[in-house]
Amino acid sequence: MELEWRTIRDVDVRGKCVLVRVDFNVPLTPDGAVTDDLRIRASLPTIEYILEHGGALVLMSHLGRPKGKVIPGLTLRPVAAVLTELLGRKVRMAPDCVGKEAKRLVDGLQPGEVLLLENLRFHKAETANDSEFARQLAALGDIYVNDAFGTAHRAHASTVGIPEALGSGVAGFLMDKELRFFRRLLAAPDPPFLAILGGAKVSGKIEVLKNLLEIADTVFVGGAMANTFFLARGFTIGDSLVEPDAVETANAILREAARLRKNLMLPVDLVVARDLSHESEPLTVPSQDIPEGYKALDIGPESLSLLASACADAKTVFWNGPMGVFESPPFDRGTLEVGRRLAEATKQGAMTVVGGGDSAAALRKAGLADSISHLSTGGGASLELVEGRELPGIMALQRRTG
Ligand code: 3PG
Repeated sequence: MELEWRTIRDVDVRGKCVLVRVDFNVPLTPDGAVTDDLRIRASLPTIEYILEHGGALVLMSHLGRPKGKVIPGLTLRPVAAVLTELLGRKVRMAPDCVGKEAKRLVDGLQPGEVLLLENLRFHKAETANDSEFARQLAALGDIYVNDAFGTAHRAHASTVGIPEALGSGVAGFLMDKELRFFRRLLAAPDPPFLAILGGAKVSGKIEVLKNLLEIADTVFVGGAMANTFFLARGFTIGDSLVEPDAVETANAILREAARLRKNLMLPVDLVVARDLSHESEPLTVPSQDIPEGYKALDIGPESLSLLASACADAKTVFWNGPMGVFESPPFDRGTLEVGRRLAEATKQGAMTVVGGGDSAAALRKAGLADSISHLSTGGGASLELVEGRELPGIMALQRRTG
């Protein structure tokens, strides 16, 4: 389906109360400090546009999965503080997202003022997409904007129920930018298209792998996912993390790659150790020779040089998932190097798109977050798009704009 959506530029926000669904589901320390503000900063263009064009702003988001309970550790108050600093103007907090007090605060809002509603998921009705709850939220604004790309794969009251209740909805600038990049990646990628997938589980990425085999020229599989492919090929994998139940799936994917004459690359060498402790000396071994008692913890130098040449040739690159245990140096080397290769490919004119929290964290660790074409704010949402699925939050904007 050809996706079409209106954006905030297509509506007049002056003098209006604009209800914006953002994705402020950000990581917090136990004492409530925001450790990664990417998603907050990414929402600034929409927020600033509305304020500069004379709108009053009501922001709403979820944080974590409180499952309908008020969990003090999942309040959005720390986000309001970060946003206040980033915007240079006070962001007020409503103690709940619906009810009398929220309504009173919204009614008192003046153009140029910002109110953040408390965590939507403190109400079960949010994830249940309850229509009455959606109507209560919808009543808080004149215009609905969805800028929560990271939550576009959820059919919740704030992503689907509100545009249904209001009969309209537009995309914010972040949503618009994400959709444009993914549309180009999926529908019109310049060849050669290299996809790099990592992370722990094949089982969670089967459909992603299948669809990428259709649209990409080369798919490189690294991280613990590769171990399941090694097992499928009959390699011994020592004590490496593996999904025995997914071996048949890995086999089917290998067969599918052969049928489509696509290049499914696996690491040819690995960095292995007995465990993550400093006492355990890492070894570099061929992928088919992981010693007994050792675990694969990163891809090796030969794999990296193969990947570097694939990156250098590529005109389009999509990357999701780490190549090893990147939180624990020295096993972060492969993942950081992939980030560097992507930055280099971008400099040479390739379109590079990265999705998923771990890959984004690795890029930031390497200081390269601004050196690729597009760092997506969506993990699950971007993967569902790459699977070829329609996302409910986007479809809700489609139906109302067509
Ligand atoms: C995310 O972090 O992927 C989004 O905010 C969606 O969160 P959820 O998986 O809890 O729905």
